[in-house]
Parts: sequence; structure tokens; C-alpha cells
Amino acid sequence: MIGTYYYPEQWPSKDWAADFKRMRAMGLRHVHMAEFAWVQLEPREGEFRFDWLDAAVDLAEANDLDIILCTPTATPPVWVALDYPDALMVRANGRRVTHGSRAQRCVNAPAFNRLAGRITTKMAQRYGQLGRVIGWQLDNEIGHYVNAPCHCPACERAFRQYLQARYGEIGTLNQAWGTDFWSQNYDSFDQIALPNPETLAYLPNEHALLDFRRFFSRSQARFLERQATLLRRHIAARAWVTHNFIAGDNQVHPRHVTGGLDLFTLTLYPVAGRFSGRTGAECFRIGDPMALAFHHDFARGHNGRWGVMEQQPGQVNWGPHNCRPFPGAVRLWLWTAVAHGAELLDTYRFRQPRCGCEQYHAGLIHLDGTSVTAGGREFSQVAAELETLAALVTAPTSSGAKMQRAAILHDWESLTALAIHPQTDRFDPVAAWLRYYAALKQLGFEVVVLSPERRRPLDLSRYAVLCVPYVDLVAPQWLAEWSRYVDGGGHLILSARSATRDRKGHFPKTRYGQWVMDLVGARLEGYDVLPVGQQGRIALPDGSTHPWEVWAEQWQPPADAEILATFGDQFYAGRAAAFQRDLGEGRLSLIGVDAAGLTERLVQTAIISRRPDRVPLPENCLFHTRGELGIFLNYADRPVRVPDHLHRGAPPLVGELNLPPAGVCIWRISGISRPDAGEASCSDTGGVL
Ligand code: GAL
Repeated sequence: MIGTYYYPEQWPSKDWAADFKRMRAMGLRHVHMAEFAWVQLEPREGEFRFDWLDAAVDLAEANDLDIILCTPTATPPVWVALDYPDALMVRANGRRVTHGSRAQRCVNAPAFNRLAGRITTKMAQRYGQLGRVIGWQLDNEIGHYVNAPCHCPACERAFRQYLQARYGEIGTLNQAWGTDFWSQNYDSFDQIALPNPETLAYLPNEHALLDFRRFFSRSQARFLERQATLLRRHIAARAWVTHNFIAGDNQVHPRHVTGGLDLFTLTLYPVAGRFSGRTGAECFRIGDPMALAFHHDFARGHNGRWGVMEQQPGQVNWGPHNCRPFPGAVRLWLWTAVAHGAELLDTYRFRQPRCGCEQYHAGLIHLDGTSVTAGGREFSQVAAELETLAALVTAPTSSGAKMQRAAILHDWESLTALAIHPQTDRFDPVAAWLRYYAALKQLGFEVVVLSPERRRPLDLSRYAVLCVPYVDLVAPQWLAEWSRYVDGGGHLILSARSATRDRKGHFPKTRYGQWVMDLVGARLEGYDVLPVGQQGRIALPDGSTHPWEVWAEQWQPPADAEILATFGDQFYAGRAAAFQRDLGEGRLSLIGVDAAGLTERLVQTAIISRRPDRVPLPENCLFHTRGELGIFLNYADRPVRVPDHLHRGAPPLVGELNLPPAGVCIWRISGISRPDAGEASCSDTGGVL
């Protein structure tokens, strides 16, 4: 299912017929509309105009295109701002935002909810039963981008209600926030203000801040749930409801949406000037394979149904530097999504705008409105390839298209708490977490991203490896669960900063790190962080050394431990920075140091020491199976040969074994050419394309 965003309201209506025709001729199967069209649908309060959207819907149908409709609540018209100013968000500096951009609404404001509910209901009533409307997107990239969170009075009221529901009694909150220190105690929930760095005299209470982050994310989620309920009253049961979450946004956690969404979709902009710096002179034009793969695996982890709602079709306008993507990169990103199980591929946008916002944003069609861009040709190519391979993509996995699975825990609460108090400005918990993910991915595992907060206990024994990076705030049963996993034969890999606090964010009344010391049976002497300009050295068993700067723990493991890395200098030279032990039937590895390149290397060494059959993929490459297909993706800026142990002689159906930069090689996996032994492929959770 591949298609495009289209804003008919932005183009003369005489262009529409040709635009829809062109979409279909390019092989696209659906069109996404109405996302920001509130003012065209309700020019004045209570005055609704659907004639133009009716015409666009008719044309889409006439051109054999399915339709995704979007509720336009991200862009309230100017009358909302003028007549209902308290529907708009307030920045931390106390200023209410004004009309003239987008995402200005506060989803906790009662007036906004009433107006948003009405336009959503009207749209659902008018289009909800149309056969060609296959799905609905709610709002756009919920949150307020860099201006989040909102500090309006409605948010303050809602925050107090959230706290009351969470703690019940004010005394319980005082205890949870440790308010006895600095005279921070409250007598009632009504006395609590939003923790706002602009108004606090000094450091905030970190528990209050964590609760505010929890509240903000959940209140955005509740808005989506309310809107989904309104839609569902009128739309066909077969139509899905989704929201397009910003990939990698930590302000709003998709897992906080607990109902109403059938499909989780993402907005993906791999080349928007935020390249994380993998090696290669032109890799910044191709994107970071590990970051992209993570977004896919993360999205897949919600309920198994996910897709890409927006994928950049070429140069964008809003990054720090908006470079040209490498030829073939757009196609590579689309196949990466398919490989990981996406059931929807969509792009922002069909035509490049000639005026208004986002002028420099590429589309599938050039400024002239008729010629196809390089990205447009790549979309068409993938549409054609998918048509040819459809049966193999969606085939069940009975013939052995299976990858060995590794699980990794992703705990939003811990990562948020560590970001609130990193203890060194240089510690970036998300980047540190990703190094563990990248290590697994590079070893060719199917990586399942799990949240430790689950409604049902999971059978961890299904995973060859369980990585637990930066799960700092733990519930006691988790430690017991991880311990059972190791006893039963699993390989548990822990990071630094593991399990030092409880879910409230309190340290237990033990020595620092006692819980993890008990789990691994070793002594944590201390941790260290270095000032800017200072580097420590880590000595590795092969005689090489590696620098570290940001975070390192000094361990004293027992005699039966295998030392993976030691400190080469500082007053604790010779102490262990990483080690592993066999416990019960399994193994426990602890990587106590974090440094780019070193973490990945230590994780891989630990895994390969127990599974010598694991062969790392070539650098900057990804491999995944989907249905009957093996899909190899070259994110390097040089040619790479697909390793023999993956394709095992199967002839490529798409691409070639000597892959150019940004190339894709696809082959059919038969029973005798399985790439790996293991459990299940992506098709177990991926849907129908
Ligand atoms: C996305 C957003 C779109 C558009 C796009 C431009 O983040 O959802 O509406 O602004 O960026 O690249």
C-alpha cells in the first residue's frame, strides 16, 4: 500500500483531475487528504463546507485511488484564536502563542476539545461510510515540537487532576516527591504549579518534572483516544484509525496511547541534517541505518500493525542543513520499511509548494506541477516492485524465512528520568541506548523492542539475547524476571546505570547499585564521568585501547568472571569496566562503560563469545526477512557484496549481489536457503501491504 499526501486546497481545482491521474499513473494506490484543511472545511464557526473535499474524493475514486482522510485539528483557523484564545497553548515564558503557524492548540483546553470534536464528527459523518476511505489519521505529529510542553491554566488543572489520580493523597505525593527537603511540602493538590524552568528560582524537583513529562505525554495520548472514539461512532468498522507519531520524539510516547489506534504510523525524515555520524563520506545523504531500523522495530512493537505515514521524498526545508539525498536512498528507505513489516508507505508530499510554508520541500512532482522528481521516480519504482513481489511479501513464513530473535527493553520512564538528571551534560540516554540496539542489529538479529511495563508477562525464553540498556527505574519483579531468564539459559546484557532506583525514582536504602550488584554477584566500586577535554582509556583483552569520556563504572567481579574490558588509567586503573559470568544455565554480561564504537564492540564480543556462529553484517548494512523474502539494504556509500551466508546461492529477484551504494538486493528464501535458525519473521507481526 503505497501513496502520497495531497492538499487539494492548495492547488487550483482545475489541476486536480490531472494530479489524481498522475498519482495513479505513477503506481500509487492511495491519496491522503484534508490534514490541515480546517479553515476550508469550517471557514466560520459552525459553517461547514464539504463541496470541495467531495469533489476531490470523487476524483480520487474515479482514478482508482484509496483514500486516507485526516482530521484537521493541528491547524485551527484564525477564528479559533480570536474567539477562543484559551484554546491556544502557552509557552514556558508565559506567552500564549498566536495564529500564523500550526500546532498552536492545547489538547487539554476545553474549548479546543469541543471545536475539535465537532469538526472530527462532521467529517466522520460525511465520509465515514465511503468504501474507498480505508483509514483515518488523527491530527498531525501530536505535541508542540520544540515548544512543548504547554503551560496554560487548563494544563495546570489537568496536571493536578493527574497527580490526584496517581497519588490519591497529598501526603503520598509529598513522600514521592521528597518534598521535606527545601520546604517543598504541599497541603493540597490545588497548590501545585507546573514545574517550569522559566519561573522556578533554581533547580526543579526532579520527581515533579518526571511526573510532568508523564502527564504531558499521557494527556496528548488521551486527546487521540477521545478523537478516535468520536470517529468510531460514524466510520466503517473496517477502516483503521492511526496517528502519525514523530519518529524518535521523546515528548510523546506512542505506548501511552492505550486504545483507539489500530495502526501506529511514523513520520520519517532520514536526511534532514541530523545524521548521527556513521562513517563514510556520503553516508549523511543515505541516512543512519541503525536509527531508521530502530524506528521501524519500535513502531512494530506496539501492536504489530504499523506503517510509514510520511517519508521524505527528496530535500526538505526545516533541517539544520537540507542536503540532497543520495540517488536511490528514497527507494532504500521504502524497502527498509517493507523489510521491517510496514503495511503502509506514504510520502509527504505530492507537489512541491510554490508559496506559503515549506516552499523548499521536495515532492514527488516538481514545481512545474507535471514532471516527476527523482524521489517520485523512486516511489514509482518501489510501487512496481511491490506489485510484482506482493505474494511473496505477504506469504506466511512456513518455508523457513526465519531470523534468530533478540529482545531489547526500552523503558521510556528510565530514559526520561536519566535525561532529566544525566549527571554529566554529555550523557545522552537515547544515544547510549541505541548503541545496544545497533550492536544487535549489526549481528543480524531480528530485534524485538519490548517495554518492561507489560500487561501480560512475556516468555523471555524465546529470545536468544535480552539486552537491558539503561533501565534505571525498576520494579522488583523485573529483576526477578531477568534473573529467571538467565537461570533458564538466556543471555542477559546489562548496561551501566542499571536498576539503581525504583519506579518512583527513589534510590533504595542500600549502597548505590546494590540491586544490580545482587543480580550479577559483583561489587560496584563507583562510577565516573570526565570533564570536557579529558579522556580515559579502556584496555581490551586483545591489547588494544579505546577512549571513553562520558560514563564508566568500576567493577570488582568475582574470580569466575571473564573480564571484557579494564580501565587503562585514572586512579582505578586495572578495575573492570565490563565483564561476564555464567549463571545457572545462562550468561550475564555487564557493560559498565559507554562510548561510541566501544559499547557496540563489547556487546558483540559478549554475544559472539557464546554464539560463535553470529557473523556481523558489513558496516552500514541491514538485513531482514519479510514473508518469503530476504532483503539486504546497503546504507554504505560504497559497493558492498551481499554475504554468502545470507543469500546461500539464491538468485536475486531485485538488485544484484554486488550492491551499489543505497542499493537493495532481494531474493526468495526457500527451505534449504534459510539465513538463520530461529523463531519467527516479521510477517508474524507485519500486516498486508
Ligand atoms: C512533518 C510534518 C509535515 C510536514 C513535514 C515536512 O514533520 O508532519 O506536516 O511539515 O514534516 O517535512
